[in-house]
Amino acid sequence: MLKAVILIGGPQKGTRFRPLSLDIPKPLFPVAGLPLIQHHIEACILLENLKEILLIGFYADDQIKPFVNKMQRIYNISIKYLQEFTALGTAGGLFHFRDQIRCGNPDAFFVLNGDVCADFQLDSLYNFHKTNPKALVSVMYTEANKQQSLNFGCMVIDRKTNEVTHYVEKPSSYVSAFINCGVYVFSLDIFQTIGEVFATKQNDLSKPDCGNGNKEASHIQLEKEILARLAASKKFFGMHVNTWWSQLKTAGSAIYANRHYLELYKTKPRRTSNLNEKGDEVCCTLHPDVYIDPTAVIDQSAVIGPNVSIGPGVFIGAGVRIHESIILANAVIEDHSLVLHSIIGTNSRVGKWARVEGTPTDPDPNKPFAKMENLSLFNRNGRLNPSITILGCGVSVPSETILLNSIVLPNKDLTRSIKNEIIL
Ligand code: GDD
Ligand code: GTP
Repeated sequence: MLKAVILIGGPQKGTRFRPLSLDIPKPLFPVAGLPLIQHHIEACILLENLKEILLIGFYADDQIKPFVNKMQRIYNISIKYLQEFTALGTAGGLFHFRDQIRCGNPDAFFVLNGDVCADFQLDSLYNFHKTNPKALVSVMYTEANKQQSLNFGCMVIDRKTNEVTHYVEKPSSYVSAFINCGVYVFSLDIFQTIGEVFATKQNDLSKPDCGNGNKEASHIQLEKEILARLAASKKFFGMHVNTWWSQLKTAGSAIYANRHYLELYKTKPRRTSNLNEKGDEVCCTLHPDVYIDPTAVIDQSAVIGPNVSIGPGVFIGAGVRIHESIILANAVIEDHSLVLHSIIGTNSRVGKWARVEGTPTDPDPNKPFAKMENLSLFNRNGRLNPSITILGCGVSVPSETILLNSIVLPNKDLTRSIKNEIIL
């Protein structure tokens, strides 16, 4: 029997994802028509022997519980949300909830970072894990370019045995182009290793001048404190993947992930369906790949795609053009407007003949192994880095205006055109 854990973090993370994370936790942000971590759940349920999925994070229970209940109904499998009392780090939560993970004695358990997007090949990873009987952990790794590798966990791999011989988390200078994808299989014995780290920390921190030692000892970083220690122990192995993999850190990376998930799900008609609620075909012009929720209402003269996801209850008027964008639930795009490289928030309204346009932040296709840059909002001079345009929820854009490379916080009624601005 197998289990899976998805690490979803909590509200203080995901700052680069604002303002989209202001009204919805980042793990639930819809990409290609599904909440981000539903893609992880779909990958997990494909595993034959998987019995339970545990989401571990520190979001308030009521932010995650309705989603968990819905997932249980859809997939008919045990899915639980385990809430950390505070951020416990990427291994602290695993250790804190070890009894729940070990319950039923699974043969192994998967751990997936909630903020990665990929063609998760979990069965291959598990088969790979089984080929090394002494393995405590097997990790999916991919390749980045030299410069970008510094933003990830870097691994030196013995290409004959696939053993990880050296691991450095976000090194300050180049170590290896092989980077940790944040997708692992662990054997249950890993809890012994984490327990030893916990005990050592507790011991060090319980000395009189160390404040609240127990609480700090509970915060354990998987990458720095466990993986780095396991390197060269002959218990840590890496499986190379060269299929699509990306992180979801910034809003710009949501558009990039949207495109790849839409492409990946082409074979699943439900995802790229163009049927409305009544089962009639949506007869506007579609340039694939496009996901349209069946409850969306779209004028037949609209032109949509490629790489567009349209959420439930959205209304799209005559002559509208949408391209490389995500339109969230109940948004209204009025006649003859244009939306390019943008995310339109829930309940927002774009008036007639308006133009909402952003700058794509995709990885450079001419650089081999390039990943998303995930730049912060502002550059060193305090100026906004050009990126996609984002409207928070409940924003109203007047007719005949232009919004370019801008971010608008929720519930703003704009009165003019804006360019390279954040409207607070
Ligand atoms: N439950 C819980 N508690 N989850 C957490 C916590 C925590 O205290 N801290 C982070 N997470 C979750 C995040 O929500 C995210 O899904 C995942 O763990 C990774 O956390 P980050 O701390 O944001 O790390 P990162 O994304 O910069 O780097 C990690 O992922 C890279 C691949 O995407 C590392 O594992 C790197 O080595 C790796 O290359
Ligand atoms: P490519 O063919 O992708 O190179 O695009 P383009 O240079 O023709 O135009 P752009 O990338 O600016 O826009 C993409 C799509 O939106 C094109 O199909 C345009 O015809 C359409 N489009 C551009 N501007 C407007 C506009 O103001 N209103 C509407 N309704 N559509 C527009």
